[in-house]
Amino acid sequence: MELRYFFALIILNLSIEWVIARNNHTFPDGFLIGTASSAYQVEGAWNTNGKGPSIWDNFTHEHPYFVVDRSNGDVAADSYHKYNEDIDLLNEIGVDHYRLSLSWPRILPNGFSNRINRDGIDYYKRILNGLREKNIEPVVTLYHWDHPQILEEMGGWTNELIVEWFADYSRIVFRELGDKIKYIATINEPIMICEGYAGTEKAPGKKILDIGKYICLQNILKAHATAYHIYDEEFRAKQGGKVGIVIPCPGMFPKTEQDTEATDTGYQYICGLVAHPIYSKNGDYPEVIKTRIGENSKLQGYAASRLPELSQRWIQYIKGSYDYFGLNHYSSFLVEAVPKKNGSLWYNDCGVKLSFDPKWPTAASSWLKVVPEGFAWTLNKIRTEYENPPVYVMENGYSDTGELQDHKRIDYLQSYMKSMLKAMYQDGCDVRGYTVWSILDNFEWERGYTEKFGIVNVDFNDTNRPRKLKLSALWLKNVIRARRLEPIIDAAPIVLSL
Ligand code: NOJ
Repeated sequence: MELRYFFALIILNLSIEWVIARNNHTFPDGFLIGTASSAYQVEGAWNTNGKGPSIWDNFTHEHPYFVVDRSNGDVAADSYHKYNEDIDLLNEIGVDHYRLSLSWPRILPNGFSNRINRDGIDYYKRILNGLREKNIEPVVTLYHWDHPQILEEMGGWTNELIVEWFADYSRIVFRELGDKIKYIATINEPIMICEGYAGTEKAPGKKILDIGKYICLQNILKAHATAYHIYDEEFRAKQGGKVGIVIPCPGMFPKTEQDTEATDTGYQYICGLVAHPIYSKNGDYPEVIKTRIGENSKLQGYAASRLPELSQRWIQYIKGSYDYFGLNHYSSFLVEAVPKKNGSLWYNDCGVKLSFDPKWPTAASSWLKVVPEGFAWTLNKIRTEYENPPVYVMENGYSDTGELQDHKRIDYLQSYMKSMLKAMYQDGCDVRGYTVWSILDNFEWERGYTEKFGIVNVDFNDTNRPRKLKLSALWLKNVIRARRLEPIIDAAPIVLSL
C-alpha cells in the first residue's frame, strides 16, 4: 500500500474513534447507576419500637394545613416493615447502588448519644446486610431533613451546639454501621433545610427574620466538616469509605446577553453558598455573596452581616472536607440582573432574579422544568469552579401524577443522562455515579402525595402499600443491563405485565 493511503487510513480510523468517543452513550467501567429514597419519605413507623419524633413528625401533626393534601409520613410507603420487598425490587431492577437515609430519631430518640435505640440500629443493619447480599452498594445519607424534635426545641440548626450533637450522632453511626458502608453523604440539600427557618413551607416552619437561614447554613457547614474529620481521623483507615455532602445545583442561563455575570452570581447564591466553602481552592463563602448580603445588612441597620463571618480556623477546617461532590440536579433557571439603585437593597440579597423560560416543559412539580442541557451546564460549572472533583449524582428525577406508563419520566431520564454523558465524554467532567430519584412514590414534603417521583408505584389507599413497577423501572433495568443509553441492545424488550 502506498504510504499516503496508509496514513490516510490511520487518520480516518482516529477520526472515527474520536467521533465515537464524543458521542458515547456507554457508561464507563465502574460507573454506578442506582436509585434513592429518604427515611421520612418512605419509612413510616413514625413512633414504632422506640423511635422519637422528628421535626417532620411534629410539623405535619401540629400544622397539617402546611401540606397541600394534609398528609404526613406516619405510614408513608411503610418501608420500615416492607424493606425486604424494597430490596427485592431493587434487585429486580438490577441497580448498582441504593441511596437511603438514616433517621436520626430512630437511632437516637432524644437526639443525644446517651440513649441509643437498638431497634433502629438493627433495622438499618438488616437493610445494609440485605443490600450487600444482593450485591447492591449502599449509599447512606446521615441526615435527610428529619432531626429529632427535641433538638428543635433548643433551636435546631440555629443553635451552634448542633454541630456537636451531629458529630456525636455521626460517630455512633460510623461505629455501629460504618463497616457496612462505603459511600457516606453527611447532609442532604443544606439550602432546602434552611428554608425551614425562612418560612412555613418546610419543617420546622419558623420564619426567623432573614437571618435564621444563614445561621442554619453556617452550622450545617460546620457539622458536615466535623463529621468528615471524625470519619477521617477515627474510621477511614479501617472502613475505607468516601464522605461528601449533597448540594442541589440547578442549571443557570442568562435571560439576555447582558446577564452572563448575573448567571454566575445566581449560581453562587444557590449552589456556591455551600459548595464554595467546601470545594473551592480558597474556601469561605463566595465573595460576591458576602459583599451583597453585607451591604444589605448595613443598609438595614444591622451591626454585622446577616451572613455571619466564618473564622479563619473554620474556613480552613471546612475547606477540602470532601472525597466527592454529591449533586442533586433536576431543573434550570433563567437569570437576570436586577440593577441596584443607590440606597436600596440588593434584590433578594444577591441582586439577581430567577425565572423560567415559558418554552420549557413542566413536570407535576411547578419548579421542575425539563431542561436537559442544564445538566451538562451544571456539571461543567462544577468542573471549572472546583478543579473537576469526582461527582456522584445523588438525585435526578421527574414528577407526575402517578401514571404506570410513565413515558414522560423515561424521556426525561433519557435526555438528562444523555446530557450527563456528553459532559463526561466531550468536556471531561469526572462523573462517577448517577441516581434516579426515587425508587418509590413517596411523601413529597409540603406537596404530600400529590407529586409522584417513583419508578415504582405505591398504592397509598391500601393499608398494605402494594408496589408495582412502572414502565420507567423496566426501562432503567434495560439501561443498567446494557450499560449504555442507546441504542439499547442485548437487553430483553420492555414487557410490562400488570
Ligand atoms: C430533593 C430532596 O432531597 C428530596 O427529598 C425530594 O423528594 C426531591 N428533591 C424532589 O423534590
